[in-house]
Amino acid sequence: MLQKPKGTYDVYGEMGLKIIYLENLLRSLMETYHYEYVRTPIFESSELFHRGVGETTDIVSKETYDFVDRGDRNMTLRPEGTAGVVRSYIENKMYGNPSQPVKTWYMGPMYRYERPQSGRFREFYQFGVEVFGSENPMMDAEVISIPVNFYRLLGLKGIKVNINTLGDTESRTAYREALLKHFKPHLDDLCEDCKNRYEKNPLRILDCKVDHDLECMRTAPKISDYLNETSRNHFEQVKQHLDILEIPYEVNPNVVRGLDYYTHTVFEVEAAIEGFGSQNVLCGGGRYNHLVENIGGPSTPGVGFALGMERLLSALECEHITVGKEHLDLYVIPVEEKQIPESLSLTQMLRMNGFSVDMDYMQRNMKGNFKQADRFNASFVLIIGEEEVETEVLTVKDNHTQEQYKVKLSELISFLDSHIKEEHNEEN
Ligand code: HAM
Repeated sequence: MLQKPKGTYDVYGEMGLKIIYLENLLRSLMETYHYEYVRTPIFESSELFHRGVGETTDIVSKETYDFVDRGDRNMTLRPEGTAGVVRSYIENKMYGNPSQPVKTWYMGPMYRYERPQSGRFREFYQFGVEVFGSENPMMDAEVISIPVNFYRLLGLKGIKVNINTLGDTESRTAYREALLKHFKPHLDDLCEDCKNRYEKNPLRILDCKVDHDLECMRTAPKISDYLNETSRNHFEQVKQHLDILEIPYEVNPNVVRGLDYYTHTVFEVEAAIEGFGSQNVLCGGGRYNHLVENIGGPSTPGVGFALGMERLLSALECEHITVGKEHLDLYVIPVEEKQIPESLSLTQMLRMNGFSVDMDYMQRNMKGNFKQADRFNASFVLIIGEEEVETEVLTVKDNHTQEQYKVKLSELISFLDSHIKEEHNEEN
């Protein structure tokens, strides 16, 4: 039997309902935050990710899905969303947009050739935002508030926000020197990856999972001692704005992130839920003030984040939070085969009036049909028999209270409008 590729999964049934619910909630959240939607290609030229995400990152050096297309071009399935959105920002000259900052959001599949395990897939879905054109620390705080408020809306309790700063170029260079000096005598103790990182990006040694418990990790210099005034001020203001927004956080110097483009603020939200598993970072992001320039655009500051949908679903499950329940406004039952045409056209008419409607396509008996209406969690059942067709007076049954009504066809819509709205109000 043919099977799905390793590290991928199918969405169907209940999971489909959950995903649609979460995606719709994110769409409406983005409306409330007034961000605009962007969609970029799933594949881009490989060079974009080499320049954007960085040669020394695991993502680019070990995990990309690369291919040569039929025109001999080197292409890569996007491992993350930021580089593509930055490319689009430059190519579409969004820096010339009169309303700055340009605040964007996106959602879609990403691809990384990682070792699959719980919470880690080769094809996974991210929702993310990227904001261009503002250096204001208020923007960093707003970006951090988005996932936190989203998790709050869902009722997730076990979340922990870790923030850190990597400072500006000057602070980072000074810190880099300090790290090189510190780790030099311990090089032999470090894993092979970290030996490589020592040369290319010593900051990444700090978030190594393998060397995590070494003494030299604990005694490593802290970025806070190497921040210049501008960097220190920026971070202080981010924290102040988080306080105003009532976003609780912890400053964690080990958050350095696995991508090369960050400057100043970096953050991760982790699931602090018992039994969640090791892949507990629900989302991550930060500021990237040189990325637009590195990809070939005008010098433009940026800040953003992305969250993983799969880890979010696991977190909801761990906290027993149900989202996206099955629901239908009406289920239409033709009593006999003869009433199928009327049932069908009534179904269509109701759908065109905005109700969610399904009907019996299997010619079940009445008992079977009521079971089906329950499975669909239908609010109302419409029974269409000979008498209903002749008199144009329909039998409408409230599937929750079992109350039965006789409603004239000409008054059906206003009847449903008031009753279904009433039911929605009660639910809320
Ligand atoms: P990232 O930390 O690589 O950042 O990914 C963000 C989130 O995507 C992670 O926190 C995790 O929830 C999810 N994720 C990453 N890899 C996998 C995987 N293999 N399987 C399942 N979920 C995964 C970025 O991608 C940056 N582009 C975020 C950003 C946007 N920074 C600034 N703007």
